[in-house]
Amino acid sequence: MTGARYSHRVIRSAIIPVAGLGTRLLPATKSQPKEMLPVARKPIVQYVVEELAANGVHDMLFVTGRNKASIENHFDSDPELFRALDATNKTELLQEVLFEELNANFFYTRQRQQQGLGDAVLCGENFAGEQPFVVALGDSILGLHARSKAVARMADLFEARHASCVVAVEEVPPEETSHYGIVQIADGTDDCMRVLNLVEKPAPEDAPSNLAIAGRYVFSPLVFDLIRRVKPDRKGEIQLTDAIQLMCEEGKRVLAVKLTGEERRYDIGNFPSYFETFVEFALADPLYGEAFRKTLQRLVGG
Ligand code: UTP
Repeated sequence: MTGARYSHRVIRSAIIPVAGLGTRLLPATKSQPKEMLPVARKPIVQYVVEELAANGVHDMLFVTGRNKASIENHFDSDPELFRALDATNKTELLQEVLFEELNANFFYTRQRQQQGLGDAVLCGENFAGEQPFVVALGDSILGLHARSKAVARMADLFEARHASCVVAVEEVPPEETSHYGIVQIADGTDDCMRVLNLVEKPAPEDAPSNLAIAGRYVFSPLVFDLIRRVKPDRKGEIQLTDAIQLMCEEGKRVLAVKLTGEERRYDIGNFPSYFETFVEFALADPLYGEAFRKTLQRLVGG
């Protein structure tokens, strides 16, 4: 699938931050990136790449760090493996690891110190140049099997409304607002809401809504100057949400698109959420799902 199906023309590139330490998933992430942990049959970051390609975004910059080489290897050519699969007529498997259908160009750069998501995005400044771009978190999948078209809707909206930033948001239970960046909305419909402000991890009684930022953004390149102006937080990290908040304060047009029920965000950053996501994707597996469902029923049925 190519970008031709969508009206957005300019937004062809994405920055995918994958440099985080993943401390909440230790020891699993001691020497492997959390973005490479499998969810059913694929590593998490492969779903992200497939989603972007299906949304017309084909140039992808991974912001990596130490211990992240397996991400590069995953999307690279592996002639020995390809020959072995070819020789044994495993054509379908071969297709799955060639990634040709994605028609994607992969780029890599390194975040030298893990100084937060805002700092990771800043590493993509030269890549983005003067063009608007997508930011897709490497540890979040949108929709079961990544079948979300939210990024294309966001890109269309960005262009139609000459926005500075469009964020994806999703409803979270009101008692859980303290885990998320929460937006304050002025007006609009699910497909176009005007964002007045952002509050990072508010207590439920202080939350301006129950709409949480959900791992996908479209930005004008002006965000880079704003990131540079953000002061590090208590942990010394430069937060991307602070840069968006500066945009709001300066009257720039920040809009939000609400994810539909089918494209909910699976955040793999902590174990409960990772376990849940794995089970849900495994149950939906066309080949192994039914048998797995029976196993699960047997296990939970006692
Ligand atoms: P998280 O906020 O989950 O941080 O990152 P983390 O460091 O990966 O995980 P914990 O909190 O230590 O468990 C969200 C996304 O942003 C990337 C991560 O790789 C992840 O995909 N990230 C985060 C960076 O690229 N650089 C950073 O400095 C921080």
